Amino acid sequence: MKLHHIGWFVSDIHKGVEAFKALGFRREGDIVIDTYRKIEICFVYSKDGGLVELVHPYDKSSVAYGLFRKYGGGVYHCCYEVQDIQKSIIELRKEHYVICEEPHSAIAIDGKMVAFLINSKVGMIELLETGEEG
Ligand code: NI
Repeated sequence: MKLHHIGWFVSDIHKGVEAFKALGFRREGDIVIDTYRKIEICFVYSKDGGLVELVHPYDKSSVAYGLFRKYGGGVYHCCYEVQDIQKSIIELRKEHYVICEEPHSAIAIDGKMVAFLINSKVGMIELLETGEEG
């Protein structure tokens, strides 16, 4: 699977963007508020095209809030591009992944379908359905 982005928790989305800019990253688009997941999101990319998704859960009822409390700042998921999200979920279940968020439309990624799964050895991953062969 092709890596699409790395999800990175920040305690303040604006300060997070500035901190990554100081490392040479550029902002990709505006800060997006995902009211379904109750998170603020901003993508930043490095000079070699690596994409980092800065995420700040702004409400305790956010699906990501528990993990944010546990991890604090830093990496918390890697997102991979897949052609067919349901098909990939079936395959990953065979590798002992369990679903933590069922497929839903992601406002910050052009409304594309995403799902989150977790595995005890790898941690959390996100699948992004592109409809294209990987
Ligand atoms: Ni993500």
